[in-house]
Amino acid sequence: MRDHFGRKVNYLRISITDLCNLRCVYCMPEEGVPKRRHATNLSFEEIEALVRAGADMGIDKIRLTGGEPLVRAGVLDLVKKLGAIPGIKDFAMTTNGILLPEMAADLKAAGLRRVNISLDTFDPEKYARITRCGRLEDALAGIDAAVSAGLTPLKINTVLIKGFNDDEIEAFVDYTRKNPVEVRFIELMPLGEGAEYAFGQYMPGEAVLARVPELVPSASAPGAPARLCTLPGALGKVGLINPISHRFCSDCNRIRLTADGKLKPCLHSDEELDVKALRRAGRSYGEILEMAVSAKPERHHIDEHETIKKRNMNEIGG
Ligand code: GTP
Ligand code: 5AD
Ligand code: SF4
Repeated sequence: MRDHFGRKVNYLRISITDLCNLRCVYCMPEEGVPKRRHATNLSFEEIEALVRAGADMGIDKIRLTGGEPLVRAGVLDLVKKLGAIPGIKDFAMTTNGILLPEMAADLKAAGLRRVNISLDTFDPEKYARITRCGRLEDALAGIDAAVSAGLTPLKINTVLIKGFNDDEIEAFVDYTRKNPVEVRFIELMPLGEGAEYAFGQYMPGEAVLARVPELVPSASAPGAPARLCTLPGALGKVGLINPISHRFCSDCNRIRLTADGKLKPCLHSDEELDVKALRRAGRSYGEILEMAVSAKPERHHIDEHETIKKRNMNEIGG
């Protein structure tokens, strides 16, 4: 599938719940979100049918996101269904890792290939503060469980937050010396209710290079947001995901499904296609995917201080 700007779309991100067992301050309101009436979520059968149609049209990479995808009941069944779809070469999940100690082995056996785990600090007190309720030791146990289960190559997502974790940049880079993981520093993006917080605490990804000048640029995967670098002699890599200071929209290869069944052509546009409504109107899943791809805007405008207010990150999944 190609969009109007000639970009090939082969990547579908699927948010399967807006609920989460944490409450990260930039992502979700403190009080959490009301449990959605079950009917607004797409069923596993509907998600499977959408992915099957996508696979026939060139989608070869899928990712389950949330909220926290592991809190959706029956997630292992969904992983089994999606893992069996021919044509899907890369099947990943973005998770906070808290439930991985009990689930990693089963996820791997069910067909999940790899996980990206969110971790913004190595300090237990700061972890509790940024997640409002999480325990660092649980997230670290999740990382260990993912590695033991072979959910690799493992990536760690670290959102850069001014005045919160800029003093830990060296520690995160240092982590890649002995661990074969990719630590990605992500620029904080303004979304939903977290937008004002994001504008206040934003720091550019270049800060990483300024703090650790030993980092050497290395080859990056085509179409991937992360620009890669390495510390000489390190087992792992460092990634810079800079949607604001180095927009990567010209290489955009993705569309996303929200927890309540809307296809979003872009993370930062308010435009959405209601999958259930379009199905009721007689559209096939393939047609709906084509419509989403055709609706992709050329780029976001968050670097010009534009925000979408409608959605918090926990409903879109990043
Ligand atoms: P890989 O396939 O492992 O490279 O993962 P990914 O980077 O596609 O997914 P992940 O869920 O780990 O996202 C990492 C960060 O990149 C999150 O902060 C996402 O919000 C952000 N991100 C992912 N896709 C996009 C995108 O299309 N646009 C923007 N602006 N940010 C994105
Ligand atoms: N800006 C940048 N990254 C974010 N994430 C969540 N909210 C934001 C935001 N406002 C990250 C999470 C997770 C990934 C899906 O997106 O930390 O790793
Ligand atoms: Fe694509 Fe929109 Fe993300 Fe830019 S912000 S890379 S256009 S999804």
